[in-house]
Amino acid sequence: MLRYCHQAFAACAVITTVGTIICSHGLFKGTGQSYPRRLMGAVDNSQSSGATSSIRWPKCKERRRVAFVKNHKVGGDTVKNILNRYGYTRKLNFLLPHPFVASMTYPYSLYPEFYLPVPPNQTFDMLVYHTVYNRTRFRQVLPKDTVYLTIIREPLSHLKSIWNYYGLQNRFLIRSNGEHAILTFLNNPEKYDKSCGHGRHVPYCLTQNSMSVDLGFPAQNNKRVTLGCDREEREVISQTFLRKIHDDFHLVMITEYFDESLVLLKRLMCWTLQDILYYKANVRHYATKRTRIPPDVRQIHNEWSYVDYALYHHFNQTFWRRVHAAGNDFLGEVRYFRRVNHQMRELCDSLSRPNPCPVSPTTVVVNDTRWSPGFTIDRDFCLLAKRDLDCYYSLQAERAAKALKLNHSNIHLYGGGGPRPAVISQLKRWTETESRKDAMYDVKVHKLSGKDVVGRHCLYCNLANCRPFDYLTHFYKDGHISNDSYRTVMRRINQKIAERCNMKNLTLP
Ligand SMILES: *[C@@H]1O[C@H](CO)[C@@H](O)[C@H](O)[C@H]1NC(C)=O
Ligand SMILES: *[C@@H]1O[C@H](CO)[C@@H](O)[C@H](O)[C@H]1NC(C)=O
Ligand SMILES: *[C@@H]1O[C@H](CO)[C@@H](O)[C@H](O)[C@H]1NC(C)=O
Ligand SMILES: *[C@@H]1O[C@H](CO)[C@@H](O)[C@H](O)[C@H]1NC(C)=O
Ligand SMILES: *[C@@H]1O[C@H](CO)[C@@H](O)[C@H](O)[C@H]1NC(C)=O
Ligand SMILES: *[C@@H]1O[C@H](CO)[C@@H](O)[C@H](O)[C@H]1NC(C)=O
Ligand SMILES: *[C@@H]1O[C@H](CO)[C@@H](O)[C@H](O)[C@H]1NC(C)=O
Repeated sequence: MLRYCHQAFAACAVITTVGTIICSHGLFKGTGQSYPRRLMGAVDNSQSSGATSSIRWPKCKERRRVAFVKNHKVGGDTVKNILNRYGYTRKLNFLLPHPFVASMTYPYSLYPEFYLPVPPNQTFDMLVYHTVYNRTRFRQVLPKDTVYLTIIREPLSHLKSIWNYYGLQNRFLIRSNGEHAILTFLNNPEKYDKSCGHGRHVPYCLTQNSMSVDLGFPAQNNKRVTLGCDREEREVISQTFLRKIHDDFHLVMITEYFDESLVLLKRLMCWTLQDILYYKANVRHYATKRTRIPPDVRQIHNEWSYVDYALYHHFNQTFWRRVHAAGNDFLGEVRYFRRVNHQMRELCDSLSRPNPCPVSPTTVVVNDTRWSPGFTIDRDFCLLAKRDLDCYYSLQAERAAKALKLNHSNIHLYGGGGPRPAVISQLKRWTETESRKDAMYDVKVHKLSGKDVVGRHCLYCNLANCRPFDYLTHFYKDGHISNDSYRTVMRRINQKIAERCNMKNLTLP
């Protein structure tokens, strides 16, 4: 029945002594291309084991530029936030869709009218917002040394997530008849999902090859690779597409192997373990997740969304080959990473628990290992790690505005820019606002700091995105608030915290 092309992909040869991995593969043989051109930083320079080893981590050159092609509902927000933190702390230039429309560059809109320009004589370093991958366009916008990154998910679990998130049962008008709606759909997908590549224009493909379409697979080709199509033509079309992704992307991460993916990313980029620590973003729980799909129905899905299955199968295979070829006790590093990540979350959660009194410890010291130089996790890092997507977006927009010399009079030069009226009135009401999320900073910062300290630096500040404290720290660290004012404000904040702590002690039985 189904003919898989996958066994055509062959193995990687590893040349660990120079830290380079070269893959050759049957399917793409004879093209003279090596894949990846570039996996560096995974040098196996050690036979010893364990986190306490005195062996140093591999030497390599850090890479800073990333194009992250963010598919929908694949765990991309968590990756995006790792990249946000990395780029934010190093002051890299993010390509930002016009404030505050983070979907502005989606689907086929990676054009100047949809994003803030790069500051004069600089380049973009990071692209993390939704857009459809277009090789030509990406290479016009980003410098040559950009690392291309994406993440994909097992197609059936991806469908379940899409199903839940976009409310597809209602959208497809499937009435409950005792059977799971997703099974009703899968038994006859063409009847319900006519959106993608079947004449009507919608920005995205919901159920059919939706990951591939985000990666640039032409939606109109969907009808040539689906149920009842010409199988030979389908092989040609899907393999041509896979090959492009294979050649263009330095790393295709896999949602099911998230931590392994991050360690591969870390090695590829020559980053430290600290750079990839994370909180999960945008995780949902829903019933469809557990719906059992019988094998014959799954087969229909495989036919319906054929290119996504081929994509997943191919990149899952190359992924594991890469893991096995990585050396330097890769899986040991993954275990160690999970441990440190757990410690980080425990510390950061305890620091932000609604308890104004001091907690201990206030830091976690992570030692040098064979995989990574040591580092310290402290309050400042926790602030960055717990910061959410919207807040990063807001701060990046503030930073871009400063670099572009925008102010309240000229902000409208960049179409779509400028705070919405709601934001302005919000700023006015700032005095009444209490920090919502995080009792560590549970103080009326504005009251303490005064509009003169934070407010006048804000172009896009929006309390729905960041807490006042985030803005305060941001403007201070970026040099817009003087040392003196910042210290004055912090002293008042700490005093307030101490007072509250005493009050709490007094009310204890
Ligand atoms: C950009 O670079 C050009 C050429 O080096 C220089 O003449 C110009 O002043 C620079 N512009 C800015 C804004 O730095
Ligand atoms: C990809 O980008 C190039 C350059 O902007 C453009 O000419 C081309 O039409 C784009 N392709 C698609 C499918 O949008
Ligand atoms: C991915 O590939 C590995 C190694 O071949 C295999 O064990 C695993 O089952 C695959 N994962 C999925 C979700 O298909
Ligand atoms: C880190 O190194 C210090 C000093 O060598 C040691 O006391 C501590 O136990 C180490 N921590 C861990 C987690 O291994
Ligand atoms: C805003 O910026 C423009 C261009 O840099 C400048 O000419 C103008 O004086 C500024 N306006 C204010 C109110 O600062
Ligand atoms: C800010 O003040 C602190 C404490 O007095 C001092 O250690 C630090 O060097 C100052 N930073 C700057 C940039 O002046
Ligand atoms: C209040 O209690 C906390 C522990 O709950 C303690 O660390 C702190 O020192 C106490 N403060 C005072 C003023 O007693």
